[in-house]
Amino acid sequence: MLADKRILLIIGGGIAAYKALDLIRRLREQGAHVTPVLTRAGEEFVTPLSVSALAAEKVYRDLFDLTDEAEMGHIELSRAADLVVVAPATADLMAKMAAGLAGDLASTLLLATDKRVLIAPTMNVRMWDHPATRRNLAQLLADGVLVVGPGEGTMACGEFGAGRMAEVPEIVAAIGAALGDGPLKGRHVIVTSGPTHEPIDPVRYIANRSSGAQGAAMAAALRDLGARVSFVTGPAAVPPPAGVDVVAVETAREMQAAVLAALPADAAVFAAAVADWRVVNAATQKMKKDGSGLPPALEFAENPDILAQVAQMGAGRPRLVVGFAAETETVADHATAKRARKGCDWIVANDVSPETGIMGGGENAVMLITGDGAESWPRMAKGEVARRLGLRIADALA
Ligand code: CTP
Repeated sequence: MLADKRILLIIGGGIAAYKALDLIRRLREQGAHVTPVLTRAGEEFVTPLSVSALAAEKVYRDLFDLTDEAEMGHIELSRAADLVVVAPATADLMAKMAAGLAGDLASTLLLATDKRVLIAPTMNVRMWDHPATRRNLAQLLADGVLVVGPGEGTMACGEFGAGRMAEVPEIVAAIGAALGDGPLKGRHVIVTSGPTHEPIDPVRYIANRSSGAQGAAMAAALRDLGARVSFVTGPAAVPPPAGVDVVAVETAREMQAAVLAALPADAAVFAAAVADWRVVNAATQKMKKDGSGLPPALEFAENPDILAQVAQMGAGRPRLVVGFAAETETVADHATAKRARKGCDWIVANDVSPETGIMGGGENAVMLITGDGAESWPRMAKGEVARRLGLRIADALA
């Protein structure tokens, strides 16, 4: 998949640097050439010898490694690659990149390159959540830097949260996608995500607890596999992933219009928690208490079922239509019936009872229901569910 691609791999100083060794092996297995650069901090975690042995190339460590070579060695090094990958990308490296600093070899290469840059951040959750890191990340995304991960989980420091470096297969998939070589290359996939808001008046609305985390993870996974993704999202708690076409909507009917406008597509994944009902007598001005003590009477109408509409369309139907089923009891039975009723190809069912912590949480335990029956997947991070589902979608469209 990566035959003869040249990857400049910058290994920063984090406990996850050991994963960079495995990354080198996997990339070489796929036919890529890896030129490794080890930062001073990186050397505290992995040795130059093991890096260069696995890469079968010289490991660059210092700006002055390059002075005895051709003039402007760092420019050449940064441009000979097809892609620059930073794994692990520490908070310090991200800050240097965002600020355009060039005080050492790694930051100089990152400033000098004219190639795309993919980073795999890793750090303690508090560092990841710090406003400075948020600012740097936003700047890097605005600069066109590609980001894979971080995932959620228990970290080396014992804390739990976002900050764990993406796993090696995920980084390899992101590298493939960055080089335009993923299994979904040339495919267009629509993903709906998040809740919808149904107005009661200009300041009030009816909503639900969906965070949009599973939909965002789904869109990122499909992007990483090389798909062009139209991401139709209601007002979600998590930001949309970079590198997808975002269409932000509020109501179910706006979501329906956006999905229909995004067709044709090879596949459509309906991860949104669409409100089943809208208020038909929504007020145009803020509702006031009228002193009578009587509550206002809201009248409801059923919203269009976007999944069913797309699944049941004749010409122009995506080849694969995937729905989600959020249930709180007899999950398999309800979801199987939902698949038949809506006419979609697959249903990804999950139990959203409050005690599962799934709605709004970082993990999901799903059951995939296809024409061939039901499979229960173990509980895992939403990003991992998305990655596996993405691979299944790629298989189905192959
Ligand atoms: N869905 C949709 N449009 C709607 C309602 C739901 O596209 N108006 C999609 C969701 O995105 C999801 C699937 O349909 O993929 C199932 O949604 P869910 O809320 O679980 O099912 P409901 O249609 O509400 O069925 P029920 O009332 O039986 O739970």
